[in-house]
Amino acid sequence: MIYLDNSATTYPKPLKVRQAVASAMQTAANPGRSGHDLALMSSEQIFKTRKTAADFFHFSKEENVIFTLNCTMAVNMVLKGILKNGDHVVVSSLEHNAVMRPLEKLTQKGVSYTVAEVFPCDNDKTVNSFRQAINGKTKMIICTHASNVWGIKLPIERIAALAHEYGVLFAVDTAQSTGIVPIDLNNSHIDFLCTAGHKGLYGPMGTGILIVSGNTIPDTIIEGGTGTNSISFQQPEELPERFESGTPNYSGIVGLRAGIDFVNANKIENISKHEFTLIKHLYKELSKMPKVKLYMPEPSEEYFVPILSFNIDGTDSENVSSFLNKKGIAVRAGLQCSPMAHKMTGTLETGAVRISPSIFTKSSDIDYLVSVIKKI
Ligand code: ALA
Repeated sequence: MIYLDNSATTYPKPLKVRQAVASAMQTAANPGRSGHDLALMSSEQIFKTRKTAADFFHFSKEENVIFTLNCTMAVNMVLKGILKNGDHVVVSSLEHNAVMRPLEKLTQKGVSYTVAEVFPCDNDKTVNSFRQAINGKTKMIICTHASNVWGIKLPIERIAALAHEYGVLFAVDTAQSTGIVPIDLNNSHIDFLCTAGHKGLYGPMGTGILIVSGNTIPDTIIEGGTGTNSISFQQPEELPERFESGTPNYSGIVGLRAGIDFVNANKIENISKHEFTLIKHLYKELSKMPKVKLYMPEPSEEYFVPILSFNIDGTDSENVSSFLNKKGIAVRAGLQCSPMAHKMTGTLETGAVRISPSIFTKSSDIDYLVSVIKKI
């Protein structure tokens, strides 16, 4: 199979990730709970992963790196742990339902939000629409770093600076940019970074990260045993325990460290370059086909991450995807859980066919895809 659905989860996982997960399952006990050697060794493994993740994002406080099940859980923890009745939030017009559904739920508690329009390839206009959306009640700006449908990259450093200027918290969903675009938390005004472990970090599914990188600590949405101060019914204040109640996904977390090591060994810039070469080639080939509709300009590193979505005139995106599947090509069609991004391009009815490569994608994979699309 030719796998071009890496924005959903990267596949295959690197050998070292698979080996780390298997070995973690063979030699582990519940970390942070018991005092025997196996449990202590497991705690050490979790600590090492926390440090690896903190270093990856250039962040000095590893205790503020929280392991979650996915990016969605991290986003929920931020939104529901911070926002109260009367608070206002600004989001972008490209948000995934990971942001929109918890936010919509919060409107039942008196939270309101404004959508700031994103202008592809015009960061000045995008930043200005964020500025216009801020009002006296704005508590937070939360936005995606890169659209999971169109690959459009948002100028998050500028949006973070804007949030700082207005004394507003800034949270970012980097599910589609982590591992492709370097992020330096020590030199930014990002208060919360939410990301997936199983996409650009090549870790196992069931892993995500929340980094509390500012001074504001959210309230908890889950409480329970942490293995610390067990005499008290009160949830601990200390991080990471405050946000990590219950037994963690130990083998997933250990596998995630192997994934981050893999990205570090291959270097983000090389991974990005490789994927961009493939996507630019695909874009050129598809632009020669009159019946293929491309919604964005040719993706450049400045304004995009390497994801390309398209449609074929008169054909539903799900039909194209199932035809490609029959030809041995795995892609994702439909709305990709991001109706907002499709509203922007008028593709709410049809969805779009999304191509997302990884470091393992070969140029011959793209050539084969192009030949099959030509046939359609
Ligand atoms: N959010 C993931 C995607 O874009 C699952 O496919």
